Amino acid sequence: MPFTIAIDGPAAAGKGTISKAVAAHYGFAHLDTGLLYRAVGAKMLAGVEPIAAAQALLPEDLADASLRTPEVAQAASKVATIPEVRAALVDFQRAFARRQGGAVLDGRDIGTVICPDAEAKLFVTASAEVRAQRRHAEQQGAQSYDEVLADVIARDERDMNRAEAPLKPAADAVLIDTSGLSIEQAVAAAIAAVDARKDNV
Ligand code: CDP
Repeated sequence: MPFTIAIDGPAAAGKGTISKAVAAHYGFAHLDTGLLYRAVGAKMLAGVEPIAAAQALLPEDLADASLRTPEVAQAASKVATIPEVRAALVDFQRAFARRQGGAVLDGRDIGTVICPDAEAKLFVTASAEVRAQRRHAEQQGAQSYDEVLADVIARDERDMNRAEAPLKPAADAVLIDTSGLSIEQAVAAAIAAVDARKDNV
């Protein structure tokens, strides 16, 4: 049976970690939809026109380790404002969401635009300072803390204020603020929220 868990939220809020753990808990497949936009952003930095890049995207384009760099993250949030780029990526995400056996998708617009009928929706957030601290630790000194914080804030602004599919919680999303939570506590809160929805469907 298809069962879709939509996990949205701003940069470095812990969506990736929570999504992987939730998917493993239920035995569901997981798609980090940020990788789609990162792959298009990386192609733009390499000189490819972003709409054409999105339309020609292949699954193997998502496996590149260089997609995690700060430059690619900023490029991703720029191409993500282009309606035709977003449109080119919709079918792949929806097909993934409705696969047999259940799916977890994490991103910015999963509960609002891609899967408005998802059985469970979470909005994972944390203060900008906590998110910058976590991303700074993850990057092991590639940028200073102040640079990471500025990047996180710039990306949040772009993601929340774009006309197409802006970052915002779905009306029926469960909010999880991970600022004061350990990974274990955040994962437990997410699983409890999904379990509550599972009992209702
Ligand atoms: O991992 P992190 O939270 O830093 O970012 P990401 O999830 O990999 O997303 C990179 C960028 O892609 C975001 O800043 C968004 O602009 C864009 N994105 C989007 O517009 N819609 C999604 N469903 C996922 C990502």
